[in-house]
Amino acid sequence: MEVNKLILGDCFEVLKTLESETIDLIYIDPPFFSNRTYEVIWGDKGEIRSFEDRFSGGIDHYISWLKERVQELYRVLKPTGSIFVHCDWHANAYIRVYILDKIFGTSNFVNEIIWQRTNNPKGSQFEKKNLGVATDTIWWYAKSQNYTFQEKFIRLTLQNGELSAKYPYFDEKNRYAQGPVIRGASMGERPNLVYEYKGYTPEKWGWRMTKDKLEELDKAGDLGWSKNKKPFRKLRPENDKGNPIYNFWSDIKRLYGGSAEAIGYPTQKPEKLLERIILMASNEGDTILDCFMGGGTTIAVADKLNRNWIGIDQSVQAVKVTEFRLNVQQNLFSKPFTVQLHKYDYDTLRYQDAFEFESWIVGQFGGVANAKQRGDLGIDGRSKDNQPIQVKRSDNIGRNVVDNFYSACQRFDKNVFDKNKKEEKYVGVIIAFSFGKGAIQEVARLKNDENVLIQLVNVEDIVPIAKKPALQINIKDLGSVKNLREIEFTAVGNSASGIQFYAWDFNYNDTTFVPEFFLDKIGKQTYKFKAGEHKIAVKVVDNEGLESLEVIKLKVNGVVTTL
Ligand SMILES: C[S@@+](CC[C@H](N)C(=O)[O-])C[C@H]1O[C@@H](n2cnc3c(N)ncnc32)[C@H](O)[C@@H]1O
Repeated sequence: MEVNKLILGDCFEVLKTLESETIDLIYIDPPFFSNRTYEVIWGDKGEIRSFEDRFSGGIDHYISWLKERVQELYRVLKPTGSIFVHCDWHANAYIRVYILDKIFGTSNFVNEIIWQRTNNPKGSQFEKKNLGVATDTIWWYAKSQNYTFQEKFIRLTLQNGELSAKYPYFDEKNRYAQGPVIRGASMGERPNLVYEYKGYTPEKWGWRMTKDKLEELDKAGDLGWSKNKKPFRKLRPENDKGNPIYNFWSDIKRLYGGSAEAIGYPTQKPEKLLERIILMASNEGDTILDCFMGGGTTIAVADKLNRNWIGIDQSVQAVKVTEFRLNVQQNLFSKPFTVQLHKYDYDTLRYQDAFEFESWIVGQFGGVANAKQRGDLGIDGRSKDNQPIQVKRSDNIGRNVVDNFYSACQRFDKNVFDKNKKEEKYVGVIIAFSFGKGAIQEVARLKNDENVLIQLVNVEDIVPIAKKPALQINIKDLGSVKNLREIEFTAVGNSASGIQFYAWDFNYNDTTFVPEFFLDKIGKQTYKFKAGEHKIAVKVVDNEGLESLEVIKLKVNGVVTTL
């Protein structure tokens, strides 16, 4: 199955297209069942539709909406996989009892994780007759008892301050803490462990180990004596496995506007949260799925941790923001990824590598493309009924293409040609961006005069196509501020489907778009530049998720000139 893919669409429909038992770990953070303002993040048409869809019938409706999606998630999860469902008090009880217990089974419940997302909850600011809510719930269920569990990641290594507090003593070897070497009364009597060592004999409960083990400990320099001659064990930091992580997670802070990873939309989860989940419950190379991916926290972290991933969201903005976020964090060694929208951009298809395009469009048509780059007689593949297909990656195809194709079909496979002709089926298919009048007339003539049917198919009849948005950038010099020059940029996008947002990269490097501002819905930014030459790249994204890039080169040197 193709992985490392961002897919636009309602996850219910998209999940149905994924193969069963192919996913190792799922994290979902579906819209909570709360109220209108909080629920709508992006405000685009996909999200509004989804919002109305799940809200129309109260909690029962919400639960059945989510349940049918979790059912699909169960199907695609491997038997060794886990699911983490992030929710809050509005629906967590329903989600556990009516969805997860029912689909995964109560015996596959792993943990109820409580994440303290704030220590200043809203409720407590107002004079309300209840307590402020500081926590979310994350349900962890596995598909079987044989689920992936990385023991080493359920402990947190001690930080510097913690280390010195926990191991306050020093000797010639290292830091240490004092631990017991004598058994306590609650541990019961052990006469065989009562022996004398270096003048000390414990009471009837005995030592914690046999004499030879104690001698070993001593030899290693890990047995100590207090001032009043009581023995203790020296516990060393190098043997400390770290503090265990329990199911109450209060050490991961929610994102604040200024933090480096904040993209600027509510409900964005911190990367640390996803890092913990992914490390705990998957291996490198595994495939992670988030089908309510929002701004792509799960995907970004999965990519950083060398996992494969599939991200789904019904909002164009979510998909594009995740794409840009991945661009920002990717480097030379990063795996390539694809973005699947509802429409294909005409320019990208039209000017893509010819062979790549031919194979792809033949596949989309339901046929089989030639494996080799140069097909016999210009035939690029076969339809599912075995008719030859020719692909022309151009517009306004003329009469001569039809004539040449007609004779190629006869020579390609005479038997198939004769059979199709006799049965009054198409003898071949030409796929192109558009056909000229000459080609259409020639196809009609062949039908009338020679009883031969050739099918002309526009690319647009196979896959939906749209034109990219247009983009224009205006600049205004706002003058000097200290040693810097402040410039105002106004982006004006135009698209038949409407503009979603703009993104800005003020240090464009000619190859990768690394935006500093992801989600500019207005299209206006000011930026301060040092003297010198600068490249600014702006992207506009329309309602279909199609984008255009515009690059401006500026020279700042007392005055501002565009290059
Ligand atoms: C709470 S946000 C997820 C935030 C995400 N965890 C993050 O850190 O950025 C929920 C997301 O679910 C998406 N969504 C809602 N209904 C959906 C559906 N039916 N299919 C796919 N995505 C959906 C919304 O567009 C929104 O982006």
